[in-house]
Amino acid sequence: MREGQTAVIHRADYRPPAFWIDSVELCFDLDPQKTRVLNRMRLRRNPSMPAEALRLHGEELNLARVLVNGQGASFKLEDSHLVLENLPEGHEPFDLEVFTTCAPAKNTKLMGLYVSNDSFFTQCEAEGFRRITYFLDRPDVMATYSVLIRADKAKYPVLLSNGNLVEQGELDAGRHYARWVDPHRKPSYLFALVAGSLVAREQRITTRGGKDHLLQVYVRPGDLDKTEHAMNSLMASIAWDEARFGLPLDLERFMIVATSDFNMGAMENKGLNIFNTKYVLASQATATDVDYANIESVVGHEYFHNWTGNRVTCRDWFQLSLKEGLTVFRDQEFSQDLAGEPSARAVRRIEDVRVLRTAQFPEDAGPMAHPVRPDQYLEINNFYTVTIYEKGAELVRMMQTLVGREGFARGMKLYFERHDGQAVTCDDFAQAIADANPDSPLARLLPQFKRWYSQAGTPRLSARSRWDAASGTYSLTLSQSCAPTPGQPVKEPFVIPVQLGLLDASGAALSNGLHVLTQESETLTMSGLSSEPVPSILRGFSAPVCLDYPYTDAQLLLLLAHDTDPFNRWEAAQRLALHRALQAVRDSGHVELDAPFIEAMRGVLRHPQLDAAFKELVLTLPSETYIAEQLEVVDPQRIHAVREAMRQQLATALRHDWEWAYEAHHDTGAYRPDPRSTGRRALAGLALTHLCLAARLSGDPVWPGKTLQRFKDAANMTDRFNALSALVTSGHPLAAQALDRFHGQFKDDALVLDKWFALQAGAPDRGGNILPLVKQLMQHPDFNIRNPNRARSLVFSYCSANPGAFHRTDAAGYVFWSDRVIELDAINPQVAARLARALDRWRRLVEPCRSAAREAIARVAAKPDLSNDVREVVTRALA
Ligand code: ARG
Ligand code: ZN
Repeated sequence: MREGQTAVIHRADYRPPAFWIDSVELCFDLDPQKTRVLNRMRLRRNPSMPAEALRLHGEELNLARVLVNGQGASFKLEDSHLVLENLPEGHEPFDLEVFTTCAPAKNTKLMGLYVSNDSFFTQCEAEGFRRITYFLDRPDVMATYSVLIRADKAKYPVLLSNGNLVEQGELDAGRHYARWVDPHRKPSYLFALVAGSLVAREQRITTRGGKDHLLQVYVRPGDLDKTEHAMNSLMASIAWDEARFGLPLDLERFMIVATSDFNMGAMENKGLNIFNTKYVLASQATATDVDYANIESVVGHEYFHNWTGNRVTCRDWFQLSLKEGLTVFRDQEFSQDLAGEPSARAVRRIEDVRVLRTAQFPEDAGPMAHPVRPDQYLEINNFYTVTIYEKGAELVRMMQTLVGREGFARGMKLYFERHDGQAVTCDDFAQAIADANPDSPLARLLPQFKRWYSQAGTPRLSARSRWDAASGTYSLTLSQSCAPTPGQPVKEPFVIPVQLGLLDASGAALSNGLHVLTQESETLTMSGLSSEPVPSILRGFSAPVCLDYPYTDAQLLLLLAHDTDPFNRWEAAQRLALHRALQAVRDSGHVELDAPFIEAMRGVLRHPQLDAAFKELVLTLPSETYIAEQLEVVDPQRIHAVREAMRQQLATALRHDWEWAYEAHHDTGAYRPDPRSTGRRALAGLALTHLCLAARLSGDPVWPGKTLQRFKDAANMTDRFNALSALVTSGHPLAAQALDRFHGQFKDDALVLDKWFALQAGAPDRGGNILPLVKQLMQHPDFNIRNPNRARSLVFSYCSANPGAFHRTDAAGYVFWSDRVIELDAINPQVAARLARALDRWRRLVEPCRSAAREAIARVAAKPDLSNDVREVVTRALA
C-alpha cells in the first residue's frame, strides 16, 4: 500500500474502543499558515476491552509534544496514527496532552480546519477531526469539550465553537480570545470552530417549556438581508420538532454559520451548524422558489439532527443511515406538514420520489450499489449517498406505514428513552419502533423487514391481474424479485407494504387498503364485482420498488382522471409518457404523439380544480435518466432527441393552452414562497419554455420577445430565471443577450453566478455545442474549480446532469471528464469522487460510448497516487 492509502474496512470488524476519552480541552492559536492546537484529554482504559496500546488518528499534522500526566512520554508515529504503548495500567483516568500545528490556508480538501474568504471553518464529519488534532476520531467515543480560541481581533472579530460562550477578552498584540464550553458529550465529528469577520441575524425565542434561547444566523457582512428565510425556517423547525415528536431544543444558543466553500450541503455540529451559503442565503431578487424550499428543508434537516444524530449518534459509520435516513425522513415530513393541504403534501412527496428514482435507483443498479447499512467501505466519504439518505428515509417511512403515525411517534419516544446519550445501530432503532408497537406487522416481521438494511438493489414488484367475468372475481398476483448487486448474488424476499386501491370502470373508488407482501408471490382475490376494476398499486409510493404492471393506456387515462391518490394520478401520466418515450427510442427515435395523450395533457393543464404545482409535475416529462433506467442498452443521444421531440410536440399541439396557462398564472403578486404561488410560478415558467419551443418551429417572434421582456422586468429570481431558462433551453438567439445581461447584473453574487454557469452547461445540446461552451466557460474569470459550488455548477452540470451533451460519440466528453476528475483529485478528493460517479452506468451504454467510457475510467484508474475516494469509485466501476 502506498503512503496515505488504507485498506477496506468491514462492518463485521467493529470493536469497541480500547480507551474512552471523557473530556477534551482544546486551545487554538489561529493563523492561516500555522495554527497551533493544544489538546488536553482525560482518558481511561475501557474496562471491557483487553489492555492494548492507544492509537490516536491524525492526518497532515505536525507533532510538537506529547505529555502523559504532565510528563514527557514515548510514542511512535505509524501510518496516520500516534501510538502510545507505555500508558499507566489499571483503570484510573490519566491526562494526555498533545501539541500540534496545521496549515488551514493550504487545506483545499475542506476537511478539518480550513480557510474560506479569510475566515476559519471546520468540517469534521466523517473523519476531519483527525486533521485538527490526534484523537480517537470515531463516533462511539464521546467527550465533553472546552474550547479556547485565540486570534487576531481585527481580522477575526467573531470566535465561535459548540455550546455556550463562557468567557471572552483581550490579549496582547491585537489578539483576543473566547472560551466555549459544550455541556453535552459528543463524538469528535460534531466538533466545530468558526472565526472571522461575520455578522449575525439574531432572534430570541421562548419554547413551550418556558425556556429562553438565542438563535443566530452568521453570514458575511453584506449578506444579512438574505437571512430572514433561514431564520424563519429554523424557528419553524424548532416548533415542529416539539409539536410532532415532543423533542425540545436542548441548548441556550443555536447558531448557523454560512460559508461559500463547503463540500456538502450543511453540517449538524452541536449548537453550531455550518452551512453551504446555498442553503442559507435567500432574497427574492437572488433566490428561486426551489432555493427557498431547499433552505427550509436543509435548515430543518440539520436542526432535526440535534436529536437524531447528536443526542443519539451512530456506533460506527456503517450505521450512517441511522441518523441520515431518519433525519431525511423527518425533514420530508416537516416540509410536508408545512405545505399543509393534502394536494401540496402530495406535490412534496412526488418531488421526493422523483429524486429517489432518478438518483438512487441508478445507484442501486450500478457498481457502487450498497445496502442502506453497508458492509464495507474504503472511504467513508463515498457513502454519503442517495442510498444512505433517501432510500434510508424510505425505510423509515415504511416503518411508519407499518405501525401508523401514532405508533411511530411512540417508537421514537422509546428510542430516546432507551438510547439518549448513546452511540447505537440501525438495529437498535428498528427494535425500538417495533417494541413500541408489539401488535404491528413490523413487530411480527422485524427480522425479515431488516433485509431492507442488509440487501442492496431495488426490488421489482410485478403485479398481474385476472378477471373472471362469470363469477365477478378479480385476482391480483403480486410477486417480488431483486437483481444481484456487487457481492450479493441472491436476495431473500423483502417486506413490501403495498398500498392498494381499486377503481371501477367509471373511475369510482371500490376499495383501498394496505397489503403487506412478504412472500415471493401472493395472490389477492376480490369477488362480487360487476365489472373489471382498475388497480391503483403502490399508492403514495408506499415502498421503494420498481412496479411492473402491464397497464393499458385506457387504464392509465382512467387513473389520471379519477384516482383519489394524487401520487398515482401523477404516476399514471408519467407512465403514459414513458411508454411513448420507450416506444420511440426502440423505434429508431421516431416520435409522433397521439391525440389521446395530447388531449389528456390538455385536460390536466386546463383542469379547473387541480393545483398549478401538480399540473407542472404532470406536464414535465420523465427525465432522460429515468427513461434510460428502463433500458438494457442506453443511447443517451437518442433518448435526448426523443424527449426533446416529445416536448416540442407538446409545445406545438398545446400552444393555445400554454398561452392560457401563462396568462392565467404568471401574476403571483407580492413575492411569497408559499406552495400556492410557487406552483403558479412553476407552471407559468413551464408554459414559457413551451411557448419558446413552439416559436422555434413557427418562427413566431412574439413569445420569445415577451419572454425577454419578462426576463428584464421580473420582480423575483424565480420568474427571471424561468424566462432566461426558456430562452436558453429553446436555443433562441435572444438567449445570448439575456445571458450577458444576467451576468452583468449579478456578477457580484456567487450563488446567482452558479446558476448562470449551470444553465449553460445543462442546456440541450445542438450539434455538439455544449462541450466547447463548457471549456470556454472554464476560462471565464469567474470560474474557479477550487470552489465546490462553482465546480458543481459548471463541470457537474455538464458531466452528471446533461447526458445528451456529455455522451458524445467522439468520446470528447469522457476525456474532459477524466481530466477534471484527475485535476480535482489533487485539490479535493471528495468533490473529485462525486464527479467520478458520472460514469457509474457505463456498462449499459451503446457502442462506441461504452468502450470510450471504459477507456476514460481506466485512464483515471491508472493514475498513480489517486485518493482513496476516487480509487474506490473507479475500481468498483471497472470491477
Ligand atoms: N451530516 C451532514 C448532513 O447530512 C453531512 C456531512 C457530510 N460531510 C462529509 N464530508 N462527508 O447533514
Ligand atoms: Zn444529515
